[in-house]
Amino acid sequence: MARRPVIAGNWKMHNLQADAIALTNGLMAELKAEDKAALPEVVIAPTFTALYAANKALTDCGCGKVKLAAQNCYFETKGAFTGECSVEMLKDAGCEYIIIGHSERREYFGETDEMVNKKAKAILANGLIPIICCGESLEQREAGVTDYHIASQITKALIGLTAEEVAKSIIAYEPIWAIGTGKTCDSIEANRVIAMIRNTVKGLYDANTADAIRILYGGSVKPETIKEQMAQSDIDGALVGGASLKADSFAQIVKGAM
Ligand code: 13P
Repeated sequence: MARRPVIAGNWKMHNLQADAIALTNGLMAELKAEDKAALPEVVIAPTFTALYAANKALTDCGCGKVKLAAQNCYFETKGAFTGECSVEMLKDAGCEYIIIGHSERREYFGETDEMVNKKAKAILANGLIPIICCGESLEQREAGVTDYHIASQITKALIGLTAEEVAKSIIAYEPIWAIGTGKTCDSIEANRVIAMIRNTVKGLYDANTADAIRILYGGSVKPETIKEQMAQSDIDGALVGGASLKADSFAQIVKGAM
């Protein structure tokens, strides 16, 4: 089965509303000449405070080439959870995807596999798509436990999801040592880990589900690295941090995935 590539930009904690509008409009200008059907699924993930501005810029453009994601959510529907946003609220703000389990959220904000699983369930129950992140630290890689750790993160993230839900979901493999360091994981190795993740999904579900789920690579993806990454058998796209903060570099990565 041909899987449609996904290029997602995680803006992290960057961009005021005016910056978000400028970047969104800049990206759309860069993609203006491209045929929508030939583009990968293009997703941007601004901070909560810039979602409205980015969504308005996307809606005003009306080209439908770029979709909106949030960088986090809470799994409860409503209530006394100061500082949190429900999936329904993010859907209301225009989001179609939500990133969960990013290593920065796991490391600095105590996000556990159990929370990732609850968030995945809440996102899918609202008809949105989770982008489930996983990845090993340098210590884990050097200790030879990369595959064990990643398979465990994914197995726990998917507990209780149906095959249909998993087939719609997106996984992002982001080795922690490659994030924001400029040290991209070797494409052959990234593909090996991603194929291992796909095989894990096959073991938990079936071959069709494993064949359908999109699995992205993230960690210092740049315009110069994307073609080689996309040429691999199992890499279905990229989750981009730093290089998504400039319209031209992100657009080059998008075009590199066509
Ligand atoms: P960089 O592309 O800046 O390494 O960030 C990757 C990432 O964490 C995306 O979620």
